[in-house]
Amino acid sequence: MALVEVEQLEKIYPLGGNAFGGKAKGEVRAVDGVSLTIEAGETLGLVGESGSGKSTLGRLILRLIEPTSGVVRFDGRDLTSLSSREMRRARRDMQIVFQDPFGSLDPRFTVEQIITEPLVIHERLDRKTLRQRAEELIRAVGLDASALPRFAHEFSGGQRQRIGIARALALRPRFIVADEPVSALDVSVGAQIVNLLRDLQREFSLTYLFISHSMPVVRYLATRIAVMHHGKLVEMGRTEQITSAPRHDYTRTLLNATPEIRF
Ligand SMILES: Nc1ncnc2c1ncn2[C@@H]1O[C@H](COP(=O)(O)OP(=O)(O)OP(=O)(O)O)[C@@H](O)[C@H]1O
Ligand SMILES: [Mg+2]
Repeated sequence: MALVEVEQLEKIYPLGGNAFGGKAKGEVRAVDGVSLTIEAGETLGLVGESGSGKSTLGRLILRLIEPTSGVVRFDGRDLTSLSSREMRRARRDMQIVFQDPFGSLDPRFTVEQIITEPLVIHERLDRKTLRQRAEELIRAVGLDASALPRFAHEFSGGQRQRIGIARALALRPRFIVADEPVSALDVSVGAQIVNLLRDLQREFSLTYLFISHSMPVVRYLATRIAVMHHGKLVEMGRTEQITSAPRHDYTRTLLNATPEIRF
C-alpha cells in the first residue's frame, strides 16, 4: 500500500526579485511536476546532483514548505487540504533527519531535552515517564543513558547524528525523510549510521525517503531509486534495475561518478 502519494508537485521560486517591489527576473522550478508513490515499509532513494530539487521535494512532502501546486497524500489523506491544527497532528507521523548534525541540535539543551522535546510538545507525560522514554530512545540509537545529561557539543558528528535520529523517533513516526544524513560524516562513521537506519526501519516499521548524492549508499539501502534532474524525475525503478540497466543518460553519469563503497 502506498503510504505517500505525490501528484504533479511543483515548487517555483521567483529569481532575483527584491523586497521593494523590484520585478523578479525569471523563476527557479525547484520541483517541476513530480509524481511518485512511496510504499509502506520501503526505502525510496532519491538521488540527483546538487540543486536538482531533492531537499525541496522532501520538505514539500512533509509540508515544511508549501507547494506552488500539486497534491501530497499521506496514508490516503490530502495533506495540502489540512488545517494547521490537523497538520500538527499529522506531522507526528512524519519526521526529518538532517544532513548537518552540528547545526541541527541546539547547543543550549541537554541530550535529554533535545530528544524529549517533541514529547513535551505533543504529549503530557510526567517526568519519570519522560526520563524512561529518553532512555529507551537513546539506547535505540546505540548510545548509553549516560549521554542524556550532557550537551550536544560534547559529541562527535556520528554521535550527534544518532541523537538527531533519536529525536526524530520520539513520537514513533511512520515516515522519515532522511536528507543526506551521512554526507557530513566520514565514510566509516556514515556506514554505521546507514546500518543503524536500516536496523531502526525493521524495529519500528519505518518508511524512508532517503536523499543522497551517493549511489553506493542508496543502492545499499533503497528498495527503489528515483533520479532527479533540474526539478524533474527522470527515472524511477527498483534498485537492481536502476543500477544494472539505467535507461537515462543522466542516471548512467551518476552511477559512473561515484566510486564503489562497501558496507
Ligand atoms: N528558498 C529558496 N528560494 C529560492 N530558491 C531556492 C530555495 N530553496 C531552493 N531553491 C533553489 O531550488 C533548487 C533546488 O534546491 P534543493 O535545495 O532542493 O536542491 P538539492 O537537490 O537538495 O541540492 P543539494 O544536493 O545541494 O542539497 C536550487 O536551484 C535552489 O537554488
Ligand atoms: Mg539538498
